[in-house]
This record gives sequence, C-alpha cells and structure tokens, in this order.
Amino acid sequence: MTKPFTLLSELENEDGEPSHLKKSKIISLLKKKFDFENSHLRPPNIKDKGILAKCFGYFAPEQAKELGIYPYFRAIEAIDGCHVVIDGKSAISVSTNNYLGLAQDPRVVEAARDALEKFGIGCTGSRFLNGTFDLHKTLEREISSFLNREDTIVMSTGFQANQGTIACLLGRKDVAFSDRENHASIYEGCGVAPGKTVRYQHNDMDHLEYYLKKYSDVEGKIIITDSIFSMSGDIANLPAIVKLAKDYGANVMVDEAHGLGVMGENGKGVASYYNLEDEIDIYMGTFSKSLGSIGGVFFAKGQNTRVIHPKNSGGFFFSPPPPPPHFRGTSGVGGLVYVPGRGVKWGGEKPFLKRGFFDMGFQVNNNSIPIVPIKIGEEALTLYMNRLLFDDGVFAGVAVSPVVPPLNAMIRTSYTSSHDQKDLDKVLGSFRKLGTKLGIIPK
Ligand SMILES: Cc1ncc(COP(=O)(O)O)c(C=O)c1O
Repeated sequence: MTKPFTLLSELENEDGEPSHLKKSKIISLLKKKFDFENSHLRPPNIKDKGILAKCFGYFAPEQAKELGIYPYFRAIEAIDGCHVVIDGKSAISVSTNNYLGLAQDPRVVEAARDALEKFGIGCTGSRFLNGTFDLHKTLEREISSFLNREDTIVMSTGFQANQGTIACLLGRKDVAFSDRENHASIYEGCGVAPGKTVRYQHNDMDHLEYYLKKYSDVEGKIIITDSIFSMSGDIANLPAIVKLAKDYGANVMVDEAHGLGVMGENGKGVASYYNLEDEIDIYMGTFSKSLGSIGGVFFAKGQNTRVIHPKNSGGFFFSPPPPPPHFRGTSGVGGLVYVPGRGVKWGGEKPFLKRGFFDMGFQVNNNSIPIVPIKIGEEALTLYMNRLLFDDGVFAGVAVSPVVPPLNAMIRTSYTSSHDQKDLDKVLGSFRKLGTKLGIIPK
C-alpha cells in the first residue's frame, strides 16, 4: 500500500494520530523545508547568463514540487459535476467557477455539438476580418437584450475585454481610479493605456474620495471595480461608488465576471442587484465562470462600444474569437436563457456552509456569494494544508503572493449548483480535521 504523504513526521505519532503541536511550531518546521519567502528571490546561478538567466532564478515551484505541495496546473482527468479525477484519485472540486453547473450541462453540450458539426472547430480569423459568424452576432443581440444594453461586443476572453477596453478608454489626460483588488486584466489594461491610474485601498470609499478630490480638475475620470472580487469574494460597494462618481463627475466601469449568473435579477449581476444598471457606463463580463464556456463581453450604454479601436485593443482585432461550439454553447439554448431558472441563489440555499467554516474558527467573508476564501496566512502552511485536503478527497485552489499580499495566503474555495449536502458536509469535515491537525483552528 502506498504510504500516505507526510511532510512533517512530527505531526503523526506512532498510531498515526495527530500531534498537539502549536501552529507556530508547525510553521517553523515547515519553513525549514520550504522557504517560500526567500526561495523565489535567490539570484540566478552565476553561470546562467543572458536574457534567459531569469528563468533559472525562481526556485519556489521546483522546491514545492519536490516536497509534494505544488498546487498548480494539476491535470483533471475526468469530471462529473463537482467531482473530478486527478492522478487517478477522485475528489470533490471546490476549485471551479462553474457556479451554475452549465459547463457540462447536457443541453449546452448538445448545442455546442450542433455548432461543431455545422461550423467546425475554429473561426480561423479575427472577428473584424473574417472570423465573425452569425453565432457571434446572435450572442451579442441576446446579451444586449438580456442586460438591457444597446450595444455589446463579444471578445475572445474576459481578460481581453478588460485589457482592450481600458487601454482604449484611458487617454493621455484621463485618470482611472482602480480598486487594489481588481483583477489582473484591469491592471494590464491600465498599464497599457497612456492615461494615469491610481489605486485606492480595497473597497475603501474614503480613499477613493480622497483621490477623486485630488484629481477633481481632470475632465476624463473613470472608477473601475470588480463587482465581486475574485479572490476575497467581497462585493463592491456599488451604491457608494455610483454616488461618488456623480459627485465628482466620473464614469463607472464594472467587471461583472463573478456577478453574472450569481447575483441580481435572473443573474444579471451586482449592478442589477443594487438596481444601478442605468448608472453604470461600461460593463464587462465573461463566459468563463457561470456560463461555463470561454469568451468575454463588453457592453456599454448608448454607443460607447465605439471606443474599441485596433491601436489599443489588439487582443480583439488581431486574434480570433473562441470556436463556434463555445459560442453556440454560451448562446441562447446553452447559456443565458438558463440563467433565470438556474440562479445558484447562494444566500438562500447554502448559508450553513459559511456558518460551518465560521463556527470552526476560520475567517470567512460574510456575504452570500459562492466564493469562500479560507485565509490561512503563511504560505508553506497553506500549501501543505491544501495537499492534505487533496489526499482527503477535496480539490481546492490556492492563492499565494503575489496574487495576494505576502503572509495572506488562502485556500480559495468556490461552490456550484452541483454540490449537494453530502459534498458540502465532506468539505467541511475535511477542513475541520486538517485545520485542527495543523493547529489552524482550535480543537
Ligand atoms: C474579476 C475577473 N475579471 C476578469 C477575468 C478574466 O476573464 P476570462 O476568464 O474570461 O479571461 C476574471 C477571470 O479570472 C476575473 O476573475
């Protein structure tokens, strides 16, 4: 029989029972084996020269792999709802954004198969030259009507939608006010744009107002925020943002990547939840979460989608859209029409889950959305806990620095309509067992 994975023999007594070591002691034992903070800062070996030398200066992944705690790029071999097989082992996945379970929905698969047979596997060109199919136009019309927008553009990914839109919007004299926890694609868009970006503290409306005051003389101002922050699972304070935007003459752009399908009337997003749809100037959404597919969408009030131009939105103009099956799968029968009936209604259905984590002593966010980050703190401890969870049958994601600030590592769990009570009880049970074993929560 394969010996169970153990990095710290000190944690097991002869009977395999958990030890009673304190968390600080466990961290110091782990740090002797895996020095996350320093391992990726070591200078490259002196004999590695030239532009590629930097490839050899980053040790953390190799070290983590050797120790068996590397959590990324794990290949899923089979999937059935929230159940996956990895390395031949079955586990419940709490590492997915398939909130409504649409990615494997038989109706979606059927629609996608239809398009595959009709159009083949790709568009073979960028949308503006020869890669626009009627599928794209249909999807754009559907989204415009679903979200009550006049104009919508569908792109290859949400990343490109954010990056390409912001890069075009933010001219030389303009200023963007961006929440510090915004998605990387917003950072990228701001980075490429000629205008200035200031980053306000996460969800801190006083800090946002401080910057709006500071730049009140600037004519072109836009506040950019995720509606639901992908790591913390926090919800943006849209009512306050909209009010500040009005007070200071700014526009508002909202990234509804995690809001679409989850919050608001029929899953229309956080702006809809707050009844603020008409106050938002630019919306961005993605098909890669609730809609279970791939593709990004940018929708705007009036004719604002005209802002997109080839100079700064190369990802849209010079790259093909996702293949026809994905568009068909996302469209009509496969995607949006299901949202009204399929909303995960997270707050109403599974509140015991957050309560369960909270009662165990984990810090969890106090809202009603499907992202539940479990903050652990120290990186090595987080990676170790994640490995033990997998061995116990729970597949979760991990966020470490630089995705989150150093020593703020977390196990990011997320839930879908496919998780039933038994799955969730199992997840809570594993977190309880391993959290106490590693001294993260009290016994
Ligand atoms: C908040 C947020 N915005 C944008 C994106 C990018 O979307 P896509 O996955 O379609 O590239 C993501 C994806 O992780 C996200 O979480």
